[in-house]
Order: sequence, then C-alpha cells, then structure tokens
Amino acid sequence: VFVSAIIAAAGQGKRMKSRINKQYLELDGKPILIHTLEVFDKIKYINEIILILKEDEIEFCREKILNRYEFRKKIILVSGGRERQESVYNGLKFVNKNAQIVVVHDGARPFVTADVIEKSICEALKNKAVGVGVPVKDTIKVVDENSYIIDTPDRSKLWGIQTPQVFNYDILIKAHEKAIEDNYLGTDDCVLVERLGHRVKMIEGNYDNIKITTPEDLILGEAILNRRKSKI
Ligand code: CTP
Ligand code: MG
Repeated sequence: VFVSAIIAAAGQGKRMKSRINKQYLELDGKPILIHTLEVFDKIKYINEIILILKEDEIEFCREKILNRYEFRKKIILVSGGRERQESVYNGLKFVNKNAQIVVVHDGARPFVTADVIEKSICEALKNKAVGVGVPVKDTIKVVDENSYIIDTPDRSKLWGIQTPQVFNYDILIKAHEKAIEDNYLGTDDCVLVERLGHRVKMIEGNYDNIKITTPEDLILGEAILNRRKSKI
C-alpha cells in the first residue's frame, strides 16, 4: 500500500507573534518543523512526504532549514494556500498517483509519536477515514455573540481533534472537491469527510500532541521534550 504524508506548514503563525514563522523556531536546538519531519521520516509505512509551505518561504526553508538535516525519504515541497484547507488540497494534487492512503498532519505538531501515526494508518486501512484526538478535559460551553452561554454539551462525548488524520485517497479528494463546490471551509480534514456522510473513526492519541500556536506553547514544548529525555 502506497502511503503519502502531507505536512501542512504553510500558515503564517500569527498568534505566535514571532519574527520568524513559528515552525522555524527551535525547541531543544532544532526547528519545530524538523522535529515533525523526523518522526514521519522514520516510519517505514510512509512512502513520500509532501511538505506544504508558504510560496515565499520555500527557498528559505529548503536552503536554511531542510538542508541542515538529513532525511531518508524524498520530501516534495509544494506551495500552500490562504487557508489550511486549500494548503492540504494543493498537497493532494502532488501525491504519487499510486497513493492509496494519505496521512495529513500539522507541521506545528512536533510531538506526535510514530506509534500514533502507525496506529492511525492501520486503522485507515480498515475504516478509510480516521482522526486522532483526545477526550476533552475542560467542560465546553457554546457561547452566543453576546457572550451568553447557550449550551453545555455532554463532556463525556467531546473529544479534541488533533492530527494525524488519515484517509483513503479517493475519499479525501472527493471530500475536498465537495467542500470547494459547496464553498465550505473546514478547520480540519475529518469534517470534510463527515460532510460526505462517510463515517470517520476516532482513535485516542496523546495529550502532549499539542499544536504549537501561542508563545506559552513553547514553554510546554520544552517541558514535553525534557520529560521525554529524562525517561530515556
Ligand atoms: N496551515 C497551512 N496553510 C494555511 C494555514 C495553516 O498549511 N493557509 C498549517 C500551519 O502551518 C499549521 C497547521 O496548518 O502547521 C495548523 O494551523 P495553525 O496552527 O492555525 O497555524 P497558523 O495558521 O500558521 O497560525 P495562526 O493561525 O496563528 O496564524
Ligand atoms: Mg491558522
């Protein structure tokens, strides 16, 4: 089975408010994006890596970031779009024509483990659409435009969705095309497949698979890496 990984790293990192795009900031002396790529690079089931970057960062990323490290797999650089959904769709156009399974992951989630990626690929071979997530810890409120709480969904049914999200290629491309047709913009890929009426299986990942989004996430990130080091 040919498996492609699409790593979405074409965002602007606005909420990080840093001078360079957040994914090039270093954790433990290594850019966040490299941490992410290294996990994917070592998974034997993955045949190619498509890295989605902002068009005007492709050269910088290739010359100043990727060139400093060695990867076993071919990394194909593709330019992204304005929204994450568009970036993933651009990536889909470049996957190998034999790809049966597509693993979509955020470049800004460097703490994903090989174990979770492998589990989600196996599950996608059975279920065709899989999301990795964790049960939410907080009670979640639905709030209206005037800041009044209008609903409190039953927490025992709520999960926070992360990436990887893994799909059968045909289903994912169909889901993206339908979203474009309907002018629908989703914040993850699972929702596009849910809209097709296709069942999406949730598998439990780890709470430390955080997305590096705001400055305090860097502190959390260092802590996660330190804990891992002390366990070796
Ligand atoms: N992403 C992308 N293309 C976009 C927007 C986002 O590939 N047009 C990627 C980001 O690079 C990131 C992932 O999707 O790895 C999750 O997005 P997010 O955490 O929101 O990152 P940014 O959009 O870069 O950050 P912000 O929203 O704060 O600007
Ligand atoms: Mg964003």
